[in-house]
Amino acid sequence: MNITFPIKSTIDTRRSARSYKMIAVEENIMKSIKDFAKTMSLPFEHGVEIKFFNADPTKTLYTVMKSPPNNVAFISETDIASISKAGFIGEILILFAHSKGLATCWYGHYKLSELERLMPHLQSAQQLKESNMGYGYSKGVTTGRRVICISPLGYYEDNGLRLMDRITKKTSSFKRKEIKDLLENPNEYDKLTDDILYALDLGRKAPSAANSQMWRFGFEDDFETITVAMPVGYKHFKWEHPDVDIGICASHIWLGLIDKGYNPIVTVNEELGRVVWKLSI
Ligand SMILES: Cc1cc2nc3c(=O)[nH]c(=O)nc-3n(C[C@H](O)[C@H](O)[C@H](O)COP(=O)(O)O)c2cc1C
Repeated sequence: MNITFPIKSTIDTRRSARSYKMIAVEENIMKSIKDFAKTMSLPFEHGVEIKFFNADPTKTLYTVMKSPPNNVAFISETDIASISKAGFIGEILILFAHSKGLATCWYGHYKLSELERLMPHLQSAQQLKESNMGYGYSKGVTTGRRVICISPLGYYEDNGLRLMDRITKKTSSFKRKEIKDLLENPNEYDKLTDDILYALDLGRKAPSAANSQMWRFGFEDDFETITVAMPVGYKHFKWEHPDVDIGICASHIWLGLIDKGYNPIVTVNEELGRVVWKLSI
């Protein structure tokens, strides 16, 4: 795939923004993002759809902040491989938007009824009831194609910094675990090449719900293959869909390998109740 943004600096400077100017994104920038979404070619089969929608300037959709006019939704089936692919593809789009000067924030907990009002996408009334107390698409695997996550696309409002933002700025935003702490087998650290370390460094910087960083890295084929997955049995008390985050992390590693001149072969499979991504150089 032709990645048209600078990979490392885009990843290094992206932050979740929870305060936006209530103005529309410039038309030519929205057009470049829509074109990018249309022409994105990926190293795996998928059924993920990227859909752009407009929102009203209320706190209904995101609850803690007012929505800016432009927003994006990532839609797929709800089996864990599909939602993980939605994470991978959504993150590439988000990084592209960031490289165009826009602020973004992954949201897994949005008001589903408001999203349906703004952007009708559900196939039955029953699907509305499956959300988790009104938020997100459901607690687990469910029927039909659904919006998995959404993000605002807009301009960061500096002085509107909310409490939530101030807290995350101080505590979680861009606080990340070290590569060594993310290896399934920490003894393997010394065997990793500079290129693999470069890719894993971008991987560890991926955003995750509540900054949980639940990904763990393993190796196969004499370190020619990187595996990305959460530990077997991993659960988070607030976030029901951590396989989305695993896809996000895999996309960063994929980009890191591309940045180093590789064209990795990528596979996505369900193993032991969670998704395992494999990237082979
Ligand atoms: C899949 C996913 C879902 C998220 N859902 C929410 C959310 O519902 N509300 C929110 O305020 N932040 C949400 N976040 C943002 C994370 O809190 C944020 O990415 C993390 O704290 C790391 O900070 P950073 O993105 O600034 O690096 C989500 C992130 C991901 C990856």
